[in-house]
This record gives sequence, C-alpha cells and structure tokens, in this order.
Amino acid sequence: MKIQDARAVVTGGASGLGNAVARHISSQGGRVVILDVQEGPGRAAAAALGGDASFVRCDVASEAEVNAAMDSAQARLRGINLLVNCAGVVGAGRVLGKNGPMAGEFFTKVVHINLIGTFLCDKAAAAIMQNNAPNADGERGLLIHTSSVAAFEGQIGQAAYSATKAGLAGMTLPLAREFARLGIRCVSIAPGIFHTAMMDAMSPEVRDSLASQIPFPARLGRPEEFAQLVAAVFEIPMLNGETIRLDGALRMQPK
Ligand SMILES: NC(=O)c1ccc[n+]([C@@H]2O[C@H](COP(=O)([O-])OP(=O)(O)OC[C@H]3O[C@@H](n4cnc5c(N)ncnc54)[C@H](O)[C@@H]3O)[C@@H](O)[C@H]2O)c1
Repeated sequence: MKIQDARAVVTGGASGLGNAVARHISSQGGRVVILDVQEGPGRAAAAALGGDASFVRCDVASEAEVNAAMDSAQARLRGINLLVNCAGVVGAGRVLGKNGPMAGEFFTKVVHINLIGTFLCDKAAAAIMQNNAPNADGERGLLIHTSSVAAFEGQIGQAAYSATKAGLAGMTLPLAREFARLGIRCVSIAPGIFHTAMMDAMSPEVRDSLASQIPFPARLGRPEEFAQLVAAVFEIPMLNGETIRLDGALRMQPK
C-alpha cells in the first residue's frame, strides 16, 4: 500500500507522536481522521492538516465511543486502511509509593486506556477493514500499536505502563495471525525516548540525562522519525506480527 493512498485513523492525534503521524500522512497526500479526548487541540490539529482532515472526539477506553467514532471516520474516509494507535498515558508511580500502596483503580485506568483502548480500536477498525476490496497483494489494511521499550526494560515506577506496553507487543502476533486471511497486518512500534509533550513535563536536566543514555544518535527521538517508520511499515507488506524497536540502541536502566 502506498502512503498517498492511506485512509488513516490516528488515535491520540492531537499531540506528540500521533500528531506527527497525522501530519506526515497528510503531507504525503493520504487522508486522516484524528481521534482524541482533547477537543480543542484535536480540532486545531485537524484544521492545521488542511484538506478534508477531520477530528472526532473519542475516549478510546469507551467501547461505545470507539465504535461510534470509527463509524464516523469510515463515513468520512470510505475505506479505512490504516489505524495508528497513539492514544496513551504515562501512568507512572511506585507500587509502594510515598503516599502508600498504589490504588488498584490507578493501575486499572492505565490498562483501560493504553491496552484495552488499543484493543477496542483494533477491533472496530478491523471489522471495517475486512470489507475493503483487496489490493494486488491481497492487502486490506494495517493496525499499528505504539508499544514502548518499557515493554522490555521497564523502570522502577513503570509497573502499570510496562504491563500495558508489553500487552500491546504480546497482542501483535495473535492479531496478525487471526487477520492474515483477511489481508490485515498488525505491527507494533516500540519507541525509546521521543521529544513530545510527555517529555516537556520534565526538566531540561532530566531530558538531557535521558538523551545522554542513548548510544546513537545521542538525542531524543524526533516525532517525525516515528511517523516515517509508520509510513514505511504501511508500504512494506512483509512487515507483520512484529514489534520494532525505534530507540537508537537505548536499553533502559532500572531508574
Ligand atoms: N514520547 C515518548 O518518548 C514515548 C515513548 C514510548 C512510547 N510512547 C507512547 O506513544 C504514545 C503517544 O505518546 P506521546 O509522547 O505522543 O504523548 P502525548 O501526551 O503527546 O499524546 C498522547 C495523546 O493521547 C491522547 N489521549 C490520552 N488518553 C486518551 C484517551 N483515553 N482517549 C483518546 N485519546 C487519549 C492525549 O489527549 C494526547 O493527545 C503513547 O501511547 C505513549 O505511551 C511515547
């Protein structure tokens, strides 16, 4: 599939990695619908893309909202062939923190947004993609998960986050296997440390210290680099059922 033919739904597209993906696809001539909980930034992001790009407010943790938003995106795009799941939260905190043990509800919330939210979007998008006419390679669509290197080397304070990101990596192969007969691929990308709003919340010293741990290039990842990989995965049919690290050879330390 060529990126200019993408009819993409990008969750979390109001900010950060998702926004970079939306901009990249749009700049290459693809069509985009952004799903996000942030109404103002979401609308502004879609308007900035120009063309017929649009925004649908959606909490990915709500099955009803996801189903309705995906139907709305399909009405606009007529043949969704790419879902990029970027909606997510950091959900950091020690299990035995300064203020006592972590509330089970906190852990559950992170799982709901990062893991179940992605599953709900995958399911709703795949149900639509299966009706696409296949291209010459038999392809009907692609589902992309945004995992993290924390799936493999979670740091202290990342028990909830790492569990969700490892869940996304684990879900990749069974989905790729199940949807193979439909010509729908599933690939996860595991970014290292990228310069997005999540990082802006940290002090420059902490950011510099994180960047210095990256072997090469010794800098934070650029969101555009993530978007370029999304486009490459879309265009290379042989990439399927795999989690790709995008991290400059970073291996996270315990803290
Ligand atoms: N930035 C990094 O270094 C990095 C590294 C590894 C993985 N990731 C993952 O990449 C994804 C994007 O992160 P980012 O850095 O761009 O963060 P970001 O905060 O800039 O963007 C996340 C977006 O998700 C949206 N969102 C949050 N909860 C939502 C919900 N329930 N429903 C719909 N939208 C929701 C937010 O409104 C926001 O627009 C996340 O899943 C994150 O875990 C980021």
